[in-house]
Order: sequence, then structure tokens, then C-alpha cells
Amino acid sequence: MNEQRDARLLIAEDEANLRLVLQKELQRLGYRVQVAPDGEAALRKLEETNVDVLLCDINMPHMDGMELLRRVHERPNPPEVIMLTGQGTIENAVEAMRIGAYDYLTKPYSINELDVRVRQAAEKRSLRVTNQRLRAQIERQSVLPEIVSRSLAMNEAIRLVDRVAPSETSVLITGESGTGKELIAQAIHRLSNRANGSFIDLNCAAFQESLLESELFGYEAGAFSGAKARKLGLIELADGGTLFLDEVTELPASLQAKLLRAIETRTFFRVGGVRKVEVNVRIVAATNQNLDAVIGNGSFRADLLYRINSFQIHLAPLRERPEDIEPLTNHILKQLGGANPPTVMPDALAKIGAYSWPGNVRQLRNCLERAILLSNEGRITSNELPPEVARSTNGTAPFMSGFSSAQLSASHAPVAAGDSGNLPGSGSLRDVEKQQIISALEQTGWHRGKAAQMLGISPSTLYRRLRDYNLEGRLQ
Ligand SMILES: Nc1ncnc2c1ncn2[C@@H]1O[C@H](COP(=O)(O)OP(=O)(O)OP(=O)(O)O)[C@@H](O)[C@H]1O
Ligand SMILES: [Mg+2]
Repeated sequence: MNEQRDARLLIAEDEANLRLVLQKELQRLGYRVQVAPDGEAALRKLEETNVDVLLCDINMPHMDGMELLRRVHERPNPPEVIMLTGQGTIENAVEAMRIGAYDYLTKPYSINELDVRVRQAAEKRSLRVTNQRLRAQIERQSVLPEIVSRSLAMNEAIRLVDRVAPSETSVLITGESGTGKELIAQAIHRLSNRANGSFIDLNCAAFQESLLESELFGYEAGAFSGAKARKLGLIELADGGTLFLDEVTELPASLQAKLLRAIETRTFFRVGGVRKVEVNVRIVAATNQNLDAVIGNGSFRADLLYRINSFQIHLAPLRERPEDIEPLTNHILKQLGGANPPTVMPDALAKIGAYSWPGNVRQLRNCLERAILLSNEGRITSNELPPEVARSTNGTAPFMSGFSSAQLSASHAPVAAGDSGNLPGSGSLRDVEKQQIISALEQTGWHRGKAAQMLGISPSTLYRRLRDYNLEGRLQ
């Protein structure tokens, strides 16, 4: 209970001497103490600052202790109140308890007695505040994100989620970019026994190796220049909850070894730390890479894969489950359009349904976002669709069709020096893709997030492509 010694106290007492003695003694014990000479002044202090425990004399000028207690209890999240009574006011003290005071002390009382009561009251308040926070968290979390599924493939994935969520098993979610891997990971967490714990998300492709290590495992003060104080890593913040390792196959080899050890021993070292830290996390991981390929070429450790792949959920690309396109369109329009979602006209719906969506649900979402902006009178026609979608007739789409029309035309413009300046369709597909990426980056001042959004791909996919094309160093 010692930690309650730094609780914030307010003493409302009109006798100046007593007020000063109480203040000094309680400060000496470690409490943070404010004082007020009457009820009105105390109320003003309560408006201005956060107080855990109010020590309240009963007889005071301006506003007496009983009135102060009533007023305090009209406030949201009031402090705990301990009444300080003289012999003549014991009846009042009993009444005060009825109104909601935590306790009362009859003068004369010792500082030790006061200390014990104050600590108990502070602990009660701290529990009450924690309780409120947890309840708010549970309320937020109990709203499961809606996962649209009409196809057999998606229904099967959801069946697997329901089955695996309540266990402690690690789960690996595979599927192309934009198929909903993160959504599924969140659903697993929220349906698990850890739902009240944190869901911590780390994109393993988004940081350089040394940064990634300190993000994941944290560091001790002095671990490297600039490490002024200890910082907790995401694995520690996920204690009691779920750690979602997105793009897990992008983890550098040294961190794969450390992660494996952490999973196996349920302990890890902070960077620069010598003491093992215990942790209790459930790992959910995702990748859009082909597992055989990453194991085959040695970029991912097979033993780590077996650890995290105890249970696999594969999300089929949208083109293999076209039944989901229409309900997803309606769902996303409702999300984006609020109370008055726009209507998709039959011609546009046919085009959307026929397109192959290489960027999957994320690309569909980007396409609808754009269409809403361009739409007139709440109607989306094929004019508001990007050209590659508007052109689609049988579900075959041009390469990189996740790119908006702005991007396709921008790629005709001259690009960075040293590039061939090929038009889409000429040159290799890699050249075309590289040019489109450079063009998006140039238009956004090399802002990775904005460029990714423009291209309709996730920032991590963009990051990976930048590495493939050796463009990484040019990022700001
Ligand atoms: N079945 C679905 N129902 C509703 N929304 C979905 C569904 N699948 C995906 N989405 C939405 O599509 C978008 C992309 O999904 P998400 O970010 O989960 O994909 P991802 O597989 O993690 O992509 P990446 O590999 O690029 O990170 C999100 O806005 C998500 O809410
Ligand atoms: Mg993702």
C-alpha cells in the first residue's frame, strides 16, 4: 500500500495551526498536500486540480464540511472524503458516512491513525478509477469489428477464428496484401480471454533492424547514446494481451533468433539489459509472403515458423471470392458515407464486380473513397471509378491496377534521372512499377504514408518495394 503515499490530498480546515501541522506531517510522509481554510476555497481547489482524498473539518466558515461533502459528491469522479470531527459533531459524522464519506476521525487523532485511513482511502479511489477505465475499455472492445463474409472461403476463415480465439495458441494469418489480415488478428484478440489486455501491433517491415529491436524489446537507460531512460518494448506492453507481428517474415535474422527465444522461454532481455524480463503474451502474426519461398531461400527460420504457425488461417484473395465484393461494397459505403451512404448505380456495381482487385479489400475501399468524393447527388456511376476498374469486363485487370488514375497518368511524366522513362506497357513490369512508385513519392514530397495511400497499397508494402528497388535511402 506504500505506493498510495504519493496520493494527492486536500485539507479543508479553518484552524490555521492545525491546518499547518497536518500539512507538514502529511507532506513528510510523502503525500502531495494542498490546504484550504474553508469549504468554498476547498471547492475552488477541487475545480482546479485532481485530488484523491479530501480531509474535511465539519465546522468551517462560509461553507461547512457537510455542505462541502454534498457538493463534492455532485461532481464527476469525486475524491474520497474523510471527515475530521470534534466531540460535538459525531452525529454529523454518522450522517456524513450516510451521504458517502469514506470514513471519519474524531479529534484528537494521531498522525499514524490518519496516515492509515488516508492510505486506505487513496487505495479505494485508485481502484475505483482503474475500474472505470477497465469498464470503458471493455465497452470499447466489446464492439467487434464487422467482418463481411458471404463466400465459403471467408466463412471458413471466420469459423477458424471462432475456434482458435479462446485458446492460447499462436496464429499465423496468411494472405495477399489488403485481404483483411489485421482485421482477423483483431477479431482473434477480442474473442480471446485476453480481450481486456492490450492488442499491440508491430509492423516488422516498417523499421530498420536496430530500431525494430528496441521497439520490440525496449531498452535500458544508457543502452546507447540517446537512451536517457528505460523504455518498455512492445512485447512488454502486450503483457497479458496479444502481440500482433505484422509482416513477420520481414524480421531480420538476428531478431528472429531473439523472438524465438522470447517465445520459447517467455522471457527476454531489454536492449542493454542484463536482467531477464518475464512476459506473458500471445503471438498472432501475419504475412503476405509465400511461406515455402521464405523458408526455402533461408530468409526466415523454419523453427520460428513452426512456433508461430501452430494454427494457420489463410485469407483468399478477393478475386477468388467474388461473392464478397457486393456485400463488402455496401459495408464500406456505410462506413464511409455515414447516415446517408451513396448509391452505387448498376453499371458501376457491374464493373466493381467484374474487376480482379489485386489490392484486395483495401483497394476496393480506396476506390470507393475516391468515388464518394467524385460522386454527384449521392450516386456512384462508372464515371467515378478509376479507369482500370471502369474498363473491366471479365475480371482481368492490368498490372498494378491498385494505382489511381492520377498515378497512371503521372507515370507518363519524366521520372527520376537514370530511369528509362518507360510508359506502362512497354519495358518490364518491374520498371513500370518502379516508375509509378517514384512518381507517387515525388508528388507527395517523398512522404511514405501519403504515397502508399495514393498507390492504394499499405505503407509496409511500399517500404518493401522501396527496398527491392534500392530506393530506401532516398526517403526523408
Ligand atoms: N471481410 C472484411 N469485412 C470488412 N472489412 C474488411 C474485410 N476485409 C478487409 N476489410 C477492410 O479492408 C482494409 C484492409 O484490411 P487489412 O488492413 O486487415 O488488410 P491486411 O491483409 O492486413 O493488408 P496488408 O497486408 O496490406 O497489411 C481494412 O480497412 C479492413 O477493415
Ligand atoms: Mg496489415
